[in-house]
Amino acid sequence: MIIQVLGTVVAILLVFIIVQIARKPPARSKVSGVKLPPGIIFRWMPRIIFEIESFILRRILPLETAAMKVLSQQQMLGILNACHQLRVWDAIHALENDEELPTPTSIANKVHVPDVSGIKCMLDYLVAQRFLTPGYRLTPFTEGMRQGGCLEGLFTVMGPLFQQMPNIAPALKQGRKPFSYTHNTTFFELCKKQPIYSHAFDQMMTTTQAAPALAAAIDFPFWYKYNSIVDIGGGSGTLSLELASRTSRLDQRFIVCDQAQLCDACTNDPRISSHPFDFFDTNATLPDADCYVLKNVLHNWSDAGCQTILQKITPMLADNSKVLIIIDLVLPPTTKRTDPLMPQKYSYNFAMFATFLGKERNLADWSRLLADAGLEIVDLHNTRSLNSVLRCRRSPHS
Ligand SMILES: C[S@@+](CC[C@H](N)C(=O)[O-])C[C@H]1O[C@@H](n2cnc3c(N)ncnc32)[C@H](O)[C@@H]1O
Repeated sequence: MIIQVLGTVVAILLVFIIVQIARKPPARSKVSGVKLPPGIIFRWMPRIIFEIESFILRRILPLETAAMKVLSQQQMLGILNACHQLRVWDAIHALENDEELPTPTSIANKVHVPDVSGIKCMLDYLVAQRFLTPGYRLTPFTEGMRQGGCLEGLFTVMGPLFQQMPNIAPALKQGRKPFSYTHNTTFFELCKKQPIYSHAFDQMMTTTQAAPALAAAIDFPFWYKYNSIVDIGGGSGTLSLELASRTSRLDQRFIVCDQAQLCDACTNDPRISSHPFDFFDTNATLPDADCYVLKNVLHNWSDAGCQTILQKITPMLADNSKVLIIIDLVLPPTTKRTDPLMPQKYSYNFAMFATFLGKERNLADWSRLLADAGLEIVDLHNTRSLNSVLRCRRSPHS
């Protein structure tokens, strides 16, 4: 009897898993080549890994080992950043090409560092963390970093981001953001003054947002309805490129609005054009369209900053068929762990607080923010990324 019941439960579970996998099949981007996992794997894998890690940290490892794990994570960024600055990956690659053995001494020579023991210490850490093979050769991950694209931009912006970390406590005491406390300016002001950061940030967004853009393109099913889509703060057009590559509608138009210095980075696809636009320029206007998108934009700004941005959009939605699509995180409550991606979402939340003037928002925060701008949420779609899609329209009462 017990076996029958157990068998039935297992069979039901299997059917459930198969249905879930079939419902959200793996998908590949024609633009960036990134792939999305099936929905069920995306939803539960991080939770399983997180729970196992927490269990090991709390119950199995002695305190000393657990503390070292935390320290090691903090060192990881520093060491990867140092390798990026010293061009260690290029050095190893060059040695391999010249059929020389990569050793701490040969690598130290190539990167012009006299302290071989320091280089050896870093290289051994990288071997232990599986960033290098035991013979100090590149793994696919470090080879990816060497080739640039993926993390080049991240490491360029990481300099200023890093420097804020020791200043969290004094900044909090003065009621300031750690980034502004450290650099006496905001992140986007720094980008305006030093275009190297603006381009590095855009490059980082383009590569890290390839999968979230694909997820938004696939998991929100109504893009086909709109003739013209304006992507506000759209960077160099990652989302528009993804949407254009997937639509069967050849007449659909995409307009990417961002700061003038980024607009020339846009694509050659004739369906995609760019429009210089500054959220905070009182004279700046948006092109007419039936769908406006804000993807990972509002989380960079305070509620007041968001109101300034939204006030430019609300008047454009006078016709009730027009929509605003917000693609951003919806924070889960911290009262219980229901969301498998909670650690990543709260890490983003802290990053938005410390570095930008912004924050991530829960559903109530979103509803309030939108209501204050005369807008309301029509529906919410979860995607196979940290983002959800909020479809919004002008509120009938506004
Ligand atoms: C976090 S990125 C998001 C980029 C893109 N939507 C994505 O998800 O990949 C924020 C974008 O806002 C743009 N931005 C920042 N300040 C702006 C301003 N004052 N006016 C217009 N765009 C701005 C940045 O250039 C950047 O492209």
